Amino acid sequence: MNTINTVVLNFTVAIIDFLYQGRDFQRFWVLEEIARAPYFAFLSVLHLRESLGLRGPEHLYLMKEHFAQTLNETEHLEYMESRGGNAYWIDRFFARHLVLAYYWINVVYYWMAPRAAYHLSYEIEVHAAVTYAKYLALHDHDDKILEIMNDEIQHSQELAEAILLIDPKEKSLSVESVK
Ligand SMILES: [Fe+2]
Ligand SMILES: [Fe+2]
Repeated sequence: MNTINTVVLNFTVAIIDFLYQGRDFQRFWVLEEIARAPYFAFLSVLHLRESLGLRGPEHLYLMKEHFAQTLNETEHLEYMESRGGNAYWIDRFFARHLVLAYYWINVVYYWMAPRAAYHLSYEIEVHAAVTYAKYLALHDHDDKILEIMNDEIQHSQELAEAILLIDPKEKSLSVESVK
């Protein structure tokens, strides 16, 4: 399942990178718009599981964590908007249709295979951190982008911990490669 996650992610990222060449803040805005959806999806499924009497011992911890992550991703989105990332209709059209599909894919995925759903988001967070690191390497120093990059690294670590929390047998994921 993890291999499928990586292949699908790499394919999707390659398309977005190709479409958004030379339009960094539009690309960041699209990525941030999409990046929020899994956390909403995780919360939706956790709410539903709670309503059905399927609340596990880690339930409250995960709900608090995913809610904090959604807020943090919304702050990233607002920053990208302040840099003109959503200025064009075509970008808003593209991202909002993509996010609609991605939200529902995550709802089903997290319900059916929570470990694999967390792994997909982990890969996306690592990719986001690498994307911002590449931007910082090629442009003047930017405190806000650096801060957002560090947030993405933290999200990836939190997701790696969430995988271990729901399945302690899972081997731990390393995020050293993005530091
Ligand atoms: Fe983000
Ligand atoms: Fe993130």
